[in-house]
Amino acid sequence: ATTLGSAASAKGRYFGTAAAAYKFSDSVYTRILDSEFTMVTPENEMKWDATEPSQNSFNYASADTIVARAKANGQRVRGHALAWHSQQPSWAQNLSGTALRNAMVNHITNVATHYKGQLYAWDVVNEAFSDNGDGSRRNSNLQQTGNDWIEVAFRTARAADPNVKLCYNDYNTDGVNAKSTAVYNMVKDFLARGVPIGCVGFQSHINSASPLPSDYQANLQRFADLGVEVQITELDIAGSGTAQANSYANVVKACLGVSKCAGITVWGIRDSDSWRSGDTPLLFDNSGDPKAAYNAVISAF
Ligand code: XIL
Repeated sequence: ATTLGSAASAKGRYFGTAAAAYKFSDSVYTRILDSEFTMVTPENEMKWDATEPSQNSFNYASADTIVARAKANGQRVRGHALAWHSQQPSWAQNLSGTALRNAMVNHITNVATHYKGQLYAWDVVNEAFSDNGDGSRRNSNLQQTGNDWIEVAFRTARAADPNVKLCYNDYNTDGVNAKSTAVYNMVKDFLARGVPIGCVGFQSHINSASPLPSDYQANLQRFADLGVEVQITELDIAGSGTAQANSYANVVKACLGVSKCAGITVWGIRDSDSWRSGDTPLLFDNSGDPKAAYNAVISAF
């Protein structure tokens, strides 16, 4: 039977989902996870608070469960996320300056080494730009360690894993705007200076306040034209019925229109699995039945 994964594969793309290890005892969840998707992103299990709950003491149990299940099913894995202002363990939140910078480097080295050779891509840095409309960096504790923290994170990840694709990932960068242009300029600068970056992730959390931009494909294309792969990394679209289905189809068409768009990942399986379940933003309903948006995605491939 046609699945999201097989439909995408026919066009040389992957189709992924975020997955949560604690749901693996739910047979409806695992049936869909195992059969429909060709890429998996741990929803929370690879984040700093999960993998290094106390400083220099690492816990990979939940993340390893996801990687093992994916491997058993022939699925690839996107690592998410090595350096981020959010979901940091409290010990890291309480550090600053050189101590925080060194802790970030140690974290990246350990986690990227643990997963060396096992992942398709890493979100090395997540959400480092602000929503101010001026293209500035987010004023996070990591930013306060020095403006070079992003390139240091990328170089550290590369030193630990020589072959994994290294991505910058963010939200509200889905159309051409001040934030996406700031990311674009950073990527261009990194490529010019030999900072190892190979991909840009567009989260694509689409809601009524930020609907799918009309220049979505053009924005993906301008990044692709720099020479990096582009990936849709956390897609979810608020709504229901035909309107939601059409938006999903438009995302698929935009990716297919950009040869360097490697694939699409949705941020969960059933609406009830979503981090914003009130928006019913996913492809399967609470019972695990495919929605109109599911059929639209299959047709758009
Ligand atoms: C979300 C998860 O889905 C939730 O379970 C968690 O409570 C908070 O984080 N951008 C990201 C993701 O990069 O890691 C976030 O995931 C959603 C926004």
